[in-house]
Amino acid sequence: MGTISVAQVDPRVASFLEKPRKMLINGNWVDAVSGKTFPSYDPSTGEVLATVAEGDRADIDLAVKAARQAFDSGPWRKMSASERGRLIWKLADLIEAHAEEFAYLESLDNGKPLTVARAADVPLAVDLFRYMAGWTTKLEGNTIPLSVPYTPGAKYFSYTLREPVGVVGQIIPWNFPLLMAAWKLGPALASGCTVVLKPAEQTPLSALKLGELIIEAGFPEGVVNIVPGYGETAGAALAAHNDVDKVAFTGSTEVGKLIVHAATGNLKRVSLELGGKSPNVVFKDADMDVAISGAASSIFFNHGQCCCAGSRLYVEKAVFDQVVEGVAEKAKKIRVGPGLDANTQMGPLVSVEQMDRVCRYLESGFSQGAKAIAGGHKTGEKGYFVEPTVLVDTNDQMKVVQEEIFGPVVAAMPFTDPEELVPRANDNVYGLAAGVWTRDISKAHRMAEQLQAGTVWINCYNIFDAALPFGGYKQSGWGREMGHDVLNNYTQTKAVCARI
Ligand code: NAI
Ligand code: MG
Repeated sequence: MGTISVAQVDPRVASFLEKPRKMLINGNWVDAVSGKTFPSYDPSTGEVLATVAEGDRADIDLAVKAARQAFDSGPWRKMSASERGRLIWKLADLIEAHAEEFAYLESLDNGKPLTVARAADVPLAVDLFRYMAGWTTKLEGNTIPLSVPYTPGAKYFSYTLREPVGVVGQIIPWNFPLLMAAWKLGPALASGCTVVLKPAEQTPLSALKLGELIIEAGFPEGVVNIVPGYGETAGAALAAHNDVDKVAFTGSTEVGKLIVHAATGNLKRVSLELGGKSPNVVFKDADMDVAISGAASSIFFNHGQCCCAGSRLYVEKAVFDQVVEGVAEKAKKIRVGPGLDANTQMGPLVSVEQMDRVCRYLESGFSQGAKAIAGGHKTGEKGYFVEPTVLVDTNDQMKVVQEEIFGPVVAAMPFTDPEELVPRANDNVYGLAAGVWTRDISKAHRMAEQLQAGTVWINCYNIFDAALPFGGYKQSGWGREMGHDVLNNYTQTKAVCARI
């Protein structure tokens, strides 16, 4: 299914895809300084979906200049907190009004089922902006009683201000293109920062659509600049730019480390949301139906292309066969196909590179003795489809158990008791999320305390909310997204001390 069928379904989407998409700098849609463009592909066919301006260092420079000017001298910082909140809320309303277009763009550009984009990506993005709109008026400081031992008798009035960090560079991945843009832009705008956003080269379209609505909502020029382009050029230039005060990144741990190095030039602030290899633990006293469905969806949601995917399935020995066969049954029934097909439950992976990466992991697992009891191969005559896969006969040393695959592949392993399980579950460089399935509430909360993860889900998985902080322990990242925690990434504290 390519653009022709889109035209039949939604002419607004077709017309968006027809024209080469430009980048948003200082409130204007412009071509790249170099004049270059790059293709975005439909991963269900491998065909070109749209053509997009290819930003690099020169465009990043212009975008950072615009963001700097908007921060230092534009109307943005003079707005009241309430006005800023209303703009963000208006943006949420506009996204909602264009929800169908976003769902189509997301499905076409990323490959995910249209039904999933409609149910999850778009409403979550709307909710995030609404939640953040409410924070603009609540970024309060404190008043602080001072004792100052070396000025006896003196009186002071002291307080703190929470101020925006300034110009922010935001680099986002392709797994939830619109939602990741929302997670990044929402708190930055709520805090009063200005932004240069670089979407992933695989999925630039929904962020560019969002740019149109940012203008329509009435954000002053230069507050949000959107520069599509490749990571090694545009992304690297943004991370290294000396006039950027903070960089926020979501993507691979490998690139996260490059971002940290790039930030040393001006010691800009860095927040990182990186990879994961999350343990999902099923005890024999769990509600089996719920645990089996949950274990399946924890890994197969978004084709396993989730940083928090439940990719290491640890099952108590007594119920290992039952759970693993149950998950395999679910895997075999998942209908894999193009995202726009109403019957599709799982679409293609995002790119040929991602498909090849996942297939290399499968081969590595097989060569080390793992066995697939569901899936195990790529599928389809065209496009980047991989079967939902359940691996058994795996052990903690295998690459498929240690490394992030970022595809629909779960490795299942038995365990005998929690004392044995906890160190195994924690034996990983990542610490993003974990799942626990049990009817014993004490055990559940003890596990929540012991697992080294930024999020622990109990008898549920992949539950996201704008109010719930999300982020990683260990090499899964620095800082938190969402909740009020994320505002710490975008504000800095000023202490004011007056002698009175
Ligand atoms: P990536 O980390 O290369 O890409 C993420 C973003 O970083 C993109 O916008 C990209 O253009 C940008 N980028 C790449 N190199 C950069 C550089 N040197 N400087 C600045 N920005 C740069 O991830 P990729 O290659 O798309 O996927 C590889 C693996 O990364 C996946 O298999 C998965 O394991 C992991 N990943 C994790 C994500 C997460 O949500 N934590 C999202 C995407 C990928
Ligand atoms: Mg694409």
